[in-house]
Amino acid sequence: MIFPDKFLEKIKEAKSIIFFTGAGISAESGISTFRGKDGIWNKLKPEELANFDAFLRNPDMVWEWYQYRRKIVNEALPNAGHIAIKEFEKYFDTKVVTQNVDNLHGRAGSKTIYELHGNIERNYCINCNSFFNLDEIELTGEVPKCDKCGGLIRPDVVWFGEMLPQETFMNAEISAQRCDICFVVGTSAVVYPAAYIPHTAKSAGAYLVEINIEKTDFSSFADLSLTGTAGEILPKVLEEVKKIFI
Ligand code: OAD
Ligand code: ZN
Repeated sequence: MIFPDKFLEKIKEAKSIIFFTGAGISAESGISTFRGKDGIWNKLKPEELANFDAFLRNPDMVWEWYQYRRKIVNEALPNAGHIAIKEFEKYFDTKVVTQNVDNLHGRAGSKTIYELHGNIERNYCINCNSFFNLDEIELTGEVPKCDKCGGLIRPDVVWFGEMLPQETFMNAEISAQRCDICFVVGTSAVVYPAAYIPHTAKSAGAYLVEINIEKTDFSSFADLSLTGTAGEILPKVLEEVKKIFI
């Protein structure tokens, strides 16, 4: 793969890099994306599964769906894309801003990760806000209840219409303002406010690089749009980085 000189120049000069990632980076780990071919939202309705009213209406069904997704995530492994991102830390101040709840960046070893949409492994009581790890919850077929107050326990993910974790989002915005290069990897970048992150980076002068298997509405906004899978392209970018810094 031949990269444009301008991009290689930017890598040479860069001190700080952020990776803004979405479901596409985990596709090669076997986790479905939401939109596009085989996307989850083609078959299932977000308003029935990823929203608080739906949870109150039918908590067992929503819980069961998250249990199913947890199983897929548990059985998945970080792929070459997640691992390459972790390696960037050796060369740059590197931060990951992810919309994914699958914790695969964490399992790949990335140090600083801002999870804008939460983490499927954590849960909390909707009544008293106590947090529960999965091993602290008794798993039956039904939604678990809080052992302190009897409230329903929900996954710690952001549903449609809910606020993002404010401090996490603020930290992500700050790193977007400070970065020299922002990679936008495997995301349709249409869900706001998360999708403000690359806009913030660009307004603050960062070079924007999209990595996606297809052209998106975002492509023309990026300074460089690389077409291919994250697991294929990120290790190739890393090879270039190594050539520059050896
Ligand atoms: P989407 O499903 O909207 O987009 C996934 C993107 O990844 C698409 O643009 C694909 O073309 C691309 N893609 C697929 N496979 C790829 C691969 N191997 N390598 C690189 N790119 C690939 O996912 P997100 O943008 O993450 O929100 O969706 C944003 C939010 O919408 C999610 O966080 C979730 C969802 O509803 C919540 O749950 C709140
Ligand atoms: Zn409680």
